[in-house]
Amino acid sequence: CSTLGIGLAGVGTVGSGVILALRRNGDLIRDRTGGAVDMQVTKALVRDLSKPRAVALPQEVLTTDWKELVADPSVDIVVELIGGTTDAFEIVAAALKAGKPVVTGNKALLAERGVELFALSKEHDTPIHFEAAVAGGIPIIKTVQESFIGNRIHSMSGIINGTSNYILERMTTAGLDFETALGEAQQLGYAEADPALDVNGWDAAHKAILLATLAYGFPIDPAMVHVAGIEQVRPIDIDFATRLGYVVKLLAVVREHPNGAVELRVQPSFIPKSHILASVNGVFNAVAVHGDAAGESLFYGRGAGQDPTASSVVADLVEAARSLRQATGHRGFLPYRESGQLLPIENTET
Ligand code: NDP
Ligand code: HSE
Repeated sequence: CSTLGIGLAGVGTVGSGVILALRRNGDLIRDRTGGAVDMQVTKALVRDLSKPRAVALPQEVLTTDWKELVADPSVDIVVELIGGTTDAFEIVAAALKAGKPVVTGNKALLAERGVELFALSKEHDTPIHFEAAVAGGIPIIKTVQESFIGNRIHSMSGIINGTSNYILERMTTAGLDFETALGEAQQLGYAEADPALDVNGWDAAHKAILLATLAYGFPIDPAMVHVAGIEQVRPIDIDFATRLGYVVKLLAVVREHPNGAVELRVQPSFIPKSHILASVNGVFNAVAVHGDAAGESLFYGRGAGQDPTASSVVADLVEAARSLRQATGHRGFLPYRESGQLLPIENTET
C-alpha cells in the first residue's frame, strides 16, 4: 500500500501525542486494516520554528505557513490541532475546499462555526471527524452518532471538562488553592491554551453544544446556553459540601423536554457522595446517555491529556484514511494474524 500523508496543524500537547501514537502503533494499525492504512506526518504547522520540541520532526517537515501545509501535494488528510477559531477556521475551510478530509479536536471552533464548516463539508463531499473534541479518549461522538442512532435521546449529562474536575478534586482532597490546582492541570497538559475556557464553563458548554447538535440536529446559539464555571467555587463551598455529604462537580446537562424544547446548562453542582458521578475524579470524564431504547448508559474515561486525546485523533485518522482508500480492512470477526500466544489457564489471575 502507499503511504497516506498527514498534514498536522499544531505540534503541541495533542499534536505531539498523535506523532507518538503513530510511531508506537503504526504497524498495528497497518495490520488491523489489512495493510490499507499506512500513515505518516509529511507536513507540520507550528508558530515558532526555533522552539525546542520533545517530539522531533525533520526540519523540512515543519512550516509556519498553513496555506503551504494544506496545499502540499504530500498531504492527503489535514489534522487541525492549533486551537482557537480564527486561523483554525481558515485551515479547516481550505482543506475541505481542497477535498482533503479533516480531523480536529477543536470544540470551540465547531460549537461556534461548525454550521459553516459542515456546510462546506457537505458542499465538497469531504468529511470532518471530531471524536477528540468531546471527552478526550471516550468515544462519545461515535456513540451518539452511530451506536445510539436508533434511539430518541432523552438526555446526556455528566462531567466533560477534565481541568475543572482535576482542580475540584485537588481542592477537595489536597486542600490546594484554586490557582495552584489550575497550574498543575496546565502542567499536565489538560488545560486549554486559554484556561479561562476551562474554568468559566465554556469548554464544557462547547462540548455540550456539539452533543446536542448531534442528538437533536439543529444549530444551537451559544447565547441560549446557561453557563457557569468553577471559577466562583471557593474552599468554603467545598467544605460545606463535604460536611453535608456532597462533592462539588461541574455538570453539563443536555435534556429534551416533553414539548420538544432542548435545555443546555453547565454549572457547578452538589452531587451526593453515593452518586456514581461523585467518584469520577481527576482528569476523568463521565457521560450518561439516556436513549428511549437503550435506556441509560454511562461512558467513563480520561477526558483530556496527550495520550487519551491522541487516541481519539488517531481513530478518526484511520476512519478518514479508510474512506480515502475505500477500504474497510478487518472490521468484522476476522483474525489478522495466523496465531497468538494465550496465557495457560493455571497462570490466569482469579
Ligand atoms: P497546545 O497549545 O499544546 O498546542 C498548540 C500547537 O499549535 C502548538 O504547536 C503551536 O505552535 C501551534 N499553533 C497555535 N496557534 C498557531 C497558529 N496560529 N499558527 C500556527 N501554529 C499554531 O494545544 P493542545 O495540543 O493542548 O490543543 C490543541 C487542540 O486540541 C485545541 O483545539 C484543544 O481544545 C484540543 N484538545 C485538547 C485537549 C488536551 O487535553 N490538551 C483534549 C481535547 C482537545 P508552537 O508549538 O510553535 O507554539
Ligand atoms: N481542556 C479540556 C479539558 C481538554 O480539560 O477537558 C479536553 O477537551
